Amino acid sequence: MHLLVHLLILVSLILCLASSSSSSLSALKLDSSLSVDNKDDFLISQDSVFTAGFYSVGENVFCFSIWFTNPLFNGDRTVVWMANRDAPVNGKRSKLSLSKTGNLILQDADQELPIWTTRTRDTTGSAELRLNNSGNLYLQSKDEQILWQSFGSPTDTLLPNQPLTKDAMLVSSRSQTNYSSGFYRLIFDNDNVLRLVYSGPEVTGVYWPNPELRAWDSGRSTYGSERTATIDPFGRFISSDGLFFNASDDGGQPMRRLTMDVDGNVRVYSLDEGNRMWRVTWQALAQTCAIHGSCGENSTCSNEPNYGRKCTCLPYHKMVNRADWSYGCEPEFRSSSCVDGEDKDDFLHLQHFDFYGYDLKYLPNTTLDVCMKECKNMCNCKGFQYKFDKKQGIFLCYPKFLLLNGFGSVSFNGSFYLKVPTSALSSNYTKKPIQQLELNCSGIAREVQLARVYDQKKEQGSIKFLLLFTYVFGAFEIICIVYFFYKTRKSVTKPEGYLQVATGFERFSYADLKKASENFKTEIGRGGGAVVYKGVLSDNRVAAIKCLKESDSNQGEAEFLAEVSTLGRLNHMNLINIWGYCAEGKHKILVYEYMENGSLAENLHSNKLDWDKRFEIAVGTAKGLAYLHEECLEWVLHCDVKPHNILLDQDYSPKVADFGLSKFLDRDGRGNSEFTKARGTRGYMAPEWFFVSLPITSKVDVYSYGVVMLEMITGKSPQRGDQSGGYERPMVKWVQEKVGTTADGYDDMSTSWIEAIVDSRVEGEYDRIRMGTLIKVALQCAEEHKDARPTMSQVVDMLLHGDDC
Ligand SMILES: *[C@@H]1O[C@H](CO)[C@@H](O)[C@H](O)[C@H]1NC(C)=O
Ligand SMILES: *[C@@H]1O[C@H](CO)[C@@H](O)[C@H](O)[C@H]1NC(C)=O
Ligand SMILES: *[C@@H]1O[C@H](CO)[C@@H](O)[C@H](O)[C@H]1NC(C)=O
Ligand SMILES: *[C@@H]1O[C@H](CO)[C@@H](O)[C@H](O)[C@H]1NC(C)=O
Ligand SMILES: *[C@@H]1O[C@H](CO)[C@@H](O)[C@H](O)[C@H]1NC(C)=O
Ligand SMILES: *[C@@H]1O[C@H](CO)[C@@H](O)[C@H](O)[C@H]1NC(C)=O
Ligand SMILES: *[C@@H]1O[C@H](CO)[C@@H](O)[C@H](O)[C@H]1NC(C)=O
Ligand SMILES: *[C@@H]1O[C@H](CO)[C@@H](O)[C@H](O)[C@H]1NC(C)=O
Repeated sequence: MHLLVHLLILVSLILCLASSSSSSLSALKLDSSLSVDNKDDFLISQDSVFTAGFYSVGENVFCFSIWFTNPLFNGDRTVVWMANRDAPVNGKRSKLSLSKTGNLILQDADQELPIWTTRTRDTTGSAELRLNNSGNLYLQSKDEQILWQSFGSPTDTLLPNQPLTKDAMLVSSRSQTNYSSGFYRLIFDNDNVLRLVYSGPEVTGVYWPNPELRAWDSGRSTYGSERTATIDPFGRFISSDGLFFNASDDGGQPMRRLTMDVDGNVRVYSLDEGNRMWRVTWQALAQTCAIHGSCGENSTCSNEPNYGRKCTCLPYHKMVNRADWSYGCEPEFRSSSCVDGEDKDDFLHLQHFDFYGYDLKYLPNTTLDVCMKECKNMCNCKGFQYKFDKKQGIFLCYPKFLLLNGFGSVSFNGSFYLKVPTSALSSNYTKKPIQQLELNCSGIAREVQLARVYDQKKEQGSIKFLLLFTYVFGAFEIICIVYFFYKTRKSVTKPEGYLQVATGFERFSYADLKKASENFKTEIGRGGGAVVYKGVLSDNRVAAIKCLKESDSNQGEAEFLAEVSTLGRLNHMNLINIWGYCAEGKHKILVYEYMENGSLAENLHSNKLDWDKRFEIAVGTAKGLAYLHEECLEWVLHCDVKPHNILLDQDYSPKVADFGLSKFLDRDGRGNSEFTKARGTRGYMAPEWFFVSLPITSKVDVYSYGVVMLEMITGKSPQRGDQSGGYERPMVKWVQEKVGTTADGYDDMSTSWIEAIVDSRVEGEYDRIRMGTLIKVALQCAEEHKDARPTMSQVVDMLLHGDDC
């Protein structure tokens, strides 16, 4: 019997060896390939700092890439090179092969023609593809000749000792989550000067060094005979045009990279090993608004101390693509047809705003009236710049045909006049708040994807390599046994743990969590799809352990892991922190930080929450939801905002919890059809849920937020006791009546209606103006019609700055 088992293992090993094409660690040999299907197909540099392999860039699409093997603190990986950034391949049956003749070919699943190839030819018959410790992927023939190297064709990143030459350039990614080629380039220009160029679909322009200065005045030379630039491991950059600089931490040898960032700035980063994050040690431009095109058409940019760059749509305009400012803004009005003699347009005065370039004309010494008339008479005039020239003592007028490179700055002494149809100006659009939203995701690449990577530990060098080898061999053996086992049973079941998540947080075993929670002893919450227990992890952190019920977790493992990896990306002080997860068979568990003070629901009627704290909860919750809805990452709907899901930390600061019901929206909002059945909790659910014909948007969360706020203020439950079915909103109506019946209404400070509404059981004083604002905002959020509700970021603005809309 014993012998038989050994024999079986041996046979299976041989079978596996025969069937596996290649699982190479250090080199790819002729006539072999790396496959996207095989999760272990990577090349790893000798010191294991870099990994090359298929990198997931979206749902089921991959690019052959090189990245830093160790993830950052938040689980993100830093990609330094891509072979096929503009043509990702399928997640199945795609492969990178080194042909017998020494050509490197990347092939997509169903396509004959290669997606990408190095067009190389090896005559020695023994070329190998290797990944150097410097991060260079190179194809070397037997006679040591380098046939091809990734250092010769950078994407957006230059590694130390990698030269930037006249034949190469750095091209930014399209966005934080889209790695395809963007619009910003670092390039040697025809005059041998290293420049930053915006090369958009319609316009191009140089923006660094300052285009208003001659190269010489920026310290550059146009006489260099060669064009090459490098940064060395010590952080010293030298370019043939005379540009040289040192990183702020020069001298030391941390990992470094120079990257053409998504926002159009070039930065040098050093890795802070302790905290596992990149730190900026040099950047080309201090003021990111100087980067042309950064905010797109019909928008303006401002440098804000706390936000970095901030883009804002012009009034009467809205963002074209809400995840990406570079698409700019489009008008909400229809431009008036250009018929002679009719006076259909008017101008909106924007002080301290400027738009650079794209002038139709230059009219010196002109009065405002004349300038307006000129613009009205030109069909393609979108507005004009009007400014005072101190030197000559006259006013200058610049009508524009394209509104790009806009920026707002109090130091600019001039105005912009935007042409708007009179019909739009007179309509009720006027009260719309200016739409603004800062995207400040610069610095760290954000993408975390389904993993295809080894579980990395922090051991260094050769020990690590040895360990890795042992792991891989061990895993290999296990896989073979499992493979054989299933083969013999003719079963198609996937082995456990087939998919791994490359997230920064931990994967816990069920046994660990069972121990941490003392066999799930202390229940601290229970909701539709889950039960939450308190537990203490092995490192003494107190955790909330949320076990998803089976009915709710019958989704596949891949789906669960995909969702978990998205949750792991969300990182905001007003969102609950997720530490890890467990996926073993039917057990699907999420591990969160534990909140001392429980939920808002438990504290609603407690005297611990005075009015100041309640106001902070209103603002914090709004910030958390605003982040979910629109900042940087994917669009996430919560769909179950209620007091039970707003947790309070030791200072009673709110953290939004429980994304169990949320589904992720497509960028363009087409994902709505997924919502076939109503989600959420009665009383807090928006009217849209009850009417099939209405689309589900982020405004459902806004509605729930409004109801929660009204509940917090009035102390009244949003539902009647009698649980009558269907849709009604007694509490909201009650508040509306109270506000409406006190005749003085909204408009002034004789705010007797406030007294009638607020919960008299809550002790302490409140600021009447703040309270008035909060009630008004909450009511606006709880409007029946979704378009009448503000967005969550508008709510934050209104609460913080009072409301004037
Ligand atoms: C590999 O890296 C070393 C330094 O780490 C460097 O000297 C050598 O030239 C590199 N080789 C290739 C082919 O990039
Ligand atoms: C990335 O951007 C390119 C160019 O705009 C676009 O064609 C592509 O669909 C985008 N990919 C994703 C995953 O959004
Ligand atoms: C950079 O550092 C080197 C060596 O420390 C020094 O010689 C050089 O002057 C520095 N360059 C700049 C621009 O500070
Ligand atoms: C914006 O980015 C800068 C550096 O990239 C950072 O220092 C700053 O804290 C960020 N601001 C916000 C609000 O995230
Ligand atoms: C900007 O506005 C003009 C009209 O004022 C419009 O023609 C153009 O398409 C807009 N740009 C974008 C990116 O929508
Ligand atoms: C500007 O125009 C006014 C009236 O047309 C004229 O009197 C004045 O001399 C002009 N100034 C300059 C600097 O050309
Ligand atoms: C700003 O412009 C106004 C005219 O609009 C002019 O009177 C004033 O002197 C200017 N101030 C500065 C600082 O240039
Ligand atoms: C403007 O007001 C009219 C009537 O007051 C209304 O029918 C219309 O829907 C409003 N438009 C918008 C965009 O709110």
